[in-house]
Amino acid sequence: MGPAQVTKPAHLARTFRLPSSGASSVSRPTSLEEIGVEACERRKTGIGEFDRVLGGGLVPGGLVLVGGDPGIGKSTLLLQALDLLATNDSPALYVTGEESPEQVRLRADRLRITSAKVLVYAETRADAIVAAVEAQPPRALVIDSIQSVFDPSLDSAPGSVSQIREVSARFLYLAKARGVPTLLVGHVTKDGALAGPRVLEHLVDTVLYFERSTGSPYRILRAHKNRFGSTNEIGVFEMRETGLGEVENPSALFLSERPTDAPGSVVIPAMEGTRPILVEVQALVNPTAFGTPRRTCLGFDNNRAALLVAVLEQRAGLQLLGCDVFVNVAGGLELQEPAGDLAVALALASSLAAQPIPTGWLAFGEVGLAGELRSVAQTKLRILEGAKLGFTDAVLPNNAMDGLSSPSEGLRLHPVKTLAEAVDLVLQR
Ligand code: TYD
Ligand code: MG
Repeated sequence: MGPAQVTKPAHLARTFRLPSSGASSVSRPTSLEEIGVEACERRKTGIGEFDRVLGGGLVPGGLVLVGGDPGIGKSTLLLQALDLLATNDSPALYVTGEESPEQVRLRADRLRITSAKVLVYAETRADAIVAAVEAQPPRALVIDSIQSVFDPSLDSAPGSVSQIREVSARFLYLAKARGVPTLLVGHVTKDGALAGPRVLEHLVDTVLYFERSTGSPYRILRAHKNRFGSTNEIGVFEMRETGLGEVENPSALFLSERPTDAPGSVVIPAMEGTRPILVEVQALVNPTAFGTPRRTCLGFDNNRAALLVAVLEQRAGLQLLGCDVFVNVAGGLELQEPAGDLAVALALASSLAAQPIPTGWLAFGEVGLAGELRSVAQTKLRILEGAKLGFTDAVLPNNAMDGLSSPSEGLRLHPVKTLAEAVDLVLQR
């Protein structure tokens, strides 16, 4: 028998077929040094929060998938971004497969966008869209949504897995060949995954999700994958009458509804990517009525909470094991870094003692199994953010003091070596 025949799936064959003209027609290995990057200059949207999550702006040829629940503001954000990106010489193209051009115009009016720089194209056939882009490559392209576009030559129905895979691969090829930054809007299913195949996530360069906690006017844009930047960054927006506005001071936002003098509430300067954000951690400790004690956490890891309960019990002498424990990170944020340990532990201790921790205090640091406090990254940035928001005192690991050159911005620092020391400092026992 001869070697097995490997047939490439149709969409891959098309994706990797090289164009007859343009830079990518050079089909030979190139040394790293030879490869020019001038063409890769970022195109900033001018929406700071959006650019941050993108890793500094759109990249020519970059394919970005923007997912999120219906009504969260995907179309709004992208229309605003296109208007800012487009110039008179180089218009942007908004392809709408779900709304009529009139509906898009109405939204634009509401956003006070009336420029001639944004072209609207109501089309769902992939061929027609590709032809329009090739005829006049736009400064940026939005496909709203990828589920609505289809290739009539395929048997399957629009929105089916094979259609989505096929047309996404075509937009990938188009973006790379023409150097057009392309944003695909993707619907999410009821359980929050992007509708369509997972292969879509592998195919694109960047996957962004738009999220919100129920009922809140605030939206968080988060990168789940980014070939051109960090996935730790978040962008915070507020839906207003005239579109999405940037929230320039997320710390103030996340603390705005914090109860004063309530037991079980502690503020931590958490790092979200490169930026410190003050976040409130809440804990509620309640004697277990019967059965196994519950450990329920929102925005914090359950196992980590169980570990902190054990350390509080064993190393700080708190009687927690027979209690139900609830931990919540306010504002729908996720506290994933170890620096959150101390704040969660102090929130638990404060709830158990039914004593609030002093107002104006914040806490951060990793807690070890021996009850020791370990230093964490970016001490200085965290302290500065606290001072900016009017905090007066910070409890932090003793070792974290090494990296600090000078006392920080009017914030009193309380370095501690152990969790027990920290509990004694903030609560009367
Ligand atoms: P939209 O961008 O259409 O969401 P998506 O494309 O993700 O489905 O946003 C729809 C919601 O936003 C809708 O409920 C109306 C609201 N909205 C505002 O509050 N202010 C505005 O300026 C705009 C354009 C929309
Ligand atoms: Mg929409």
